[in-house]
Amino acid sequence: MCGIFAYLNYLTPKSRLEVLDLLVTGLKRLEYRGYDSTGVAIDSPDSKNIVMVKRMGKVKVLEDAIQEHFTGGEYSEPVATHIGIAHTRWATHGEPCERNSHPQRSDEGNGFVVVHNGIITNYNDVKTFLRKRGYEFESETDTEVFAKLVHHLWKTHPTYSFRELVEQAILQLEGAFAVAVKSKHFPGECVAARRSSPLLVGIKTKTRLATDHIPILYGKDDKKQTSDQDTDSGKPQVLPRSDSTSEFMPLEEKEVEYFFASDASAVIEHTNRVIYLEDDDVAAVRDGTLSIHRLKKSLDDPHAREITTLKMEIQQIMKGNYDYFMQKEIFEQPDSVVNTMRGRVRFDGNAIVLGGIKDYIPEIKRCRRLMLIGCGTSYHSAVATRQLLEELTELPVMVELASDFLDRNTPIFRDDVCFFISQSGETADTLMALRYCKQRGALIVGITNTVGSSICRESHCGVHINAGPEIGVASTKAYTSQFISLVMFALVMSEDRLSLQQRRLEILQALSNLADQIRKVLKLDSKVQELAKDLYQHKSLLIMGRGYNFATCLEGALKVKELTYMHSEGIMAGELKHGPLALVDDSMPVLMIVLRDPVYVKCMNALQQVTSRKGCPIIICEEGDEETKAFSSRSLEIPRTVDCLQGILTVIPMQLLSYHIAVLRGCDVDCPRNLAKSVTVE
Ligand code: F6R
Repeated sequence: MCGIFAYLNYLTPKSRLEVLDLLVTGLKRLEYRGYDSTGVAIDSPDSKNIVMVKRMGKVKVLEDAIQEHFTGGEYSEPVATHIGIAHTRWATHGEPCERNSHPQRSDEGNGFVVVHNGIITNYNDVKTFLRKRGYEFESETDTEVFAKLVHHLWKTHPTYSFRELVEQAILQLEGAFAVAVKSKHFPGECVAARRSSPLLVGIKTKTRLATDHIPILYGKDDKKQTSDQDTDSGKPQVLPRSDSTSEFMPLEEKEVEYFFASDASAVIEHTNRVIYLEDDDVAAVRDGTLSIHRLKKSLDDPHAREITTLKMEIQQIMKGNYDYFMQKEIFEQPDSVVNTMRGRVRFDGNAIVLGGIKDYIPEIKRCRRLMLIGCGTSYHSAVATRQLLEELTELPVMVELASDFLDRNTPIFRDDVCFFISQSGETADTLMALRYCKQRGALIVGITNTVGSSICRESHCGVHINAGPEIGVASTKAYTSQFISLVMFALVMSEDRLSLQQRRLEILQALSNLADQIRKVLKLDSKVQELAKDLYQHKSLLIMGRGYNFATCLEGALKVKELTYMHSEGIMAGELKHGPLALVDDSMPVLMIVLRDPVYVKCMNALQQVTSRKGCPIIICEEGDEETKAFSSRSLEIPRTVDCLQGILTVIPMQLLSYHIAVLRGCDVDCPRNLAKSVTVE
């Protein structure tokens, strides 16, 4: 939630207008992370002050305001070193309004300005501390305490470097944050830090970088130490600085541009060389030199941060000919599912290799149980594959919503294997659940779409789902790729089970046909659009199914709710007679999934329960199944596949339906109200 972006050029002259343009483009790429309000800060033309522009609403509003505000030749003159910071917000503390937008500032003179993603949980204590020292607050945000705390430290510790000020400030703070800070007292410098919220540094140079690593510096300072003046009673106290030392070997380049961003999609059009910062890293750029600091050394610290080369392509984060990212991502699924299997499934030899977990398979086979943990759509991928995992692993499989799992303090044992499923790899609830299980000694397996994400890094092993960047807030292609990743895992686990070979072959065969079958389902688009025209003015939509298709009901209802703001409920068809049937009458829209699988007869019973209450359900059935189709005037026919993969083909009409209803209702498909793509707060 919230996207932060910062840019710094060193000896690569850029005008302020160009820098603003870069910032706005960066924010557009991060808009999916929050779109309540936006803001930027850059230096004034005389470089003595900082100018901020903030607006309610989406990046486009900010872009228009910038065009209005920054006119005149002074903004088009090239400057050798310049920094801008920018933010797109998903409100947590304080309503969405300009006052609560970022950057937040330390004082009226904009001495220090900060953009922040996360929640500072002890902000009230820090606020009290600062109020006692004369600070007045102008916003309701937690972020403002950060800017003011840095300012307070600067006044009380005048010899501290900019980096030290930020470092000392984060020592006082609790919670989750990624921050980028700019100051008029330290022109040409930028400091960024993270704890539990994602942050990376992009590096663009004219020539190839001579190194693949940046050593971490521990607490060594470049200015003399002063005594701590904050010893009076008002907490928090400023901790003494670490006296450990290390050689100064940061990244030095003659002409360089740096980017700080919440994720790689914001930097890929500039550079593919990035460093993923770790918790409590403080990255500072001064005189074009990047250095990464930590106050404390820990035993397992690798003592350097790797400069990674991103594999992402710019086209992957552009809409192309589609109207919305979500639409593009739905239509990418024939390719994304193949990418998930690429290099892993050998259809000729019926072999599957999951490189990221292969060394752990013997340990997993000895485990007590498998736990699949996630939120929202990622959780639904666990529901969708649980039955197959039970069948092919012959182990107990528990499926858990991360938030509820934590609320219950669920017992976890050393011989549990816990899967954490997350598109972003940053969802706070899932990450907290991961840490909870790790502390208790379980084996942690990450299933994520984001290389370098926190869940990736904190897992013992895992599967990268390779679906490509997902920008639309509503998850689509990540779901089908998570689904396939878990199916592949089930196949790996059953490789040596003679009794399961026939079943495995049947599934492998179906996987090899999947991309073509998805293409076929996507051809239903105009039919689904017609259906959407019948439905979009209704208040509610009930989606019913059972067995392998129950997950589609949950996922379909979630898509309808989040995109169209219509009520929708995914109902286990077996539960119909235990309550939900009371909702059914001749006006309630109902959609039922009835496929020729082991629960067909039971689904038909449910269908008849609905029709006998004057309900007229829309049916998703198999191609050519005239008998089932006859129960409704409206149906969508999908190709036949093996039972455990049906959920991939049945979910696509639901994705299309929610998309078309949202368009017809005039909703913003890629940015549904009140939501954000990456939920980095609990
Ligand atoms: C719904 C949706 C959310 C996410 C959930 C978890 O379309 O996208 O329900 O699935 O917020 O996010 P990740 O998968 O990033 O952990």
